[in-house]
Amino acid sequence: MTVLINGKLISQQVIDETAKEVSTFVEDFGLAPGLAVVLVGEDPASQVYVRNKVKRAEEVGIRSLEYKLPATSSQETLDDLIQKLNADSTVHGILVQLPLPDHLNEEAVLLAIDPAKDVDGFHPLNVGALACGDASLVPCTPMGCMIMLAHVHPDLSGKQAVVIGRSNIVGKPMAALLLQANCTVTVVHSRTKNIESICSQADIVVAAIGRPEMVKASWIKPGATVIDVGINAIERDGKRKLVGDVDFADVEPVASAITPVPGGVGPMTIACLMKNTLQAAKNQVLKP
Ligand code: GUN
Repeated sequence: MTVLINGKLISQQVIDETAKEVSTFVEDFGLAPGLAVVLVGEDPASQVYVRNKVKRAEEVGIRSLEYKLPATSSQETLDDLIQKLNADSTVHGILVQLPLPDHLNEEAVLLAIDPAKDVDGFHPLNVGALACGDASLVPCTPMGCMIMLAHVHPDLSGKQAVVIGRSNIVGKPMAALLLQANCTVTVVHSRTKNIESICSQADIVVAAIGRPEMVKASWIKPGATVIDVGINAIERDGKRKLVGDVDFADVEPVASAITPVPGGVGPMTIACLMKNTLQAAKNQVLKP
């Protein structure tokens, strides 16, 4: 029987634990952790993500501040806002929703965020800390994948892991976390030759390529664990549907454990953002 790794359930556990810790934090320090979420423009998917982040923050007792800037905002306007949030001691976490409109320099924006408040873990200082194995703020989606993996593999040591995709948001930090957990890690991407045969040797496959249902049963070693990070909107039989990067119906019978889409990795990302915001608040209050 294939185990369905239930992201809804596991993310709720993370949320409940975080909510408890947030209330202790409030008792101890007399203020709630504060999270500022910045959205530039009107990208519909980003609007949904930001709304969900703010909603979840309120549920766990994190004070959330939402900043919506027009798509035409200048780099200077965004930079001024980030500097203001960096200087505000009641704001412990800052998240600028990506992607940004084309005229804005994403790298400069991420660099402007105080690394101590970088709850996405995207600042080069935090990326470097992760590469060295001593990060305090780890990117939320890979962190969520590791928590899900821990439910089926309490010890990942010596496992062959293949990460499909090399993005800064998921692929690269995912590979770093798996390596830290003593996996043997291979990263494959759009230019990799023989992707299918490389994947088919893995005990763990993490798919983060953004291509609907690309991973088929023939890519998966029988008994492997499959984590599907993809969230792709497609149209099938005249209906809009969300599918992952993994062809679930094809792969599920071959895998020993698999995450569904929706209800898999998706809810874990937001839960881990709450965890990171609390972590950032603790770091700042304990080491101002
Ligand atoms: N866009 C897609 N995923 C993310 C994420 O994890 N953080 C931010 N800031 N933007 C995103």
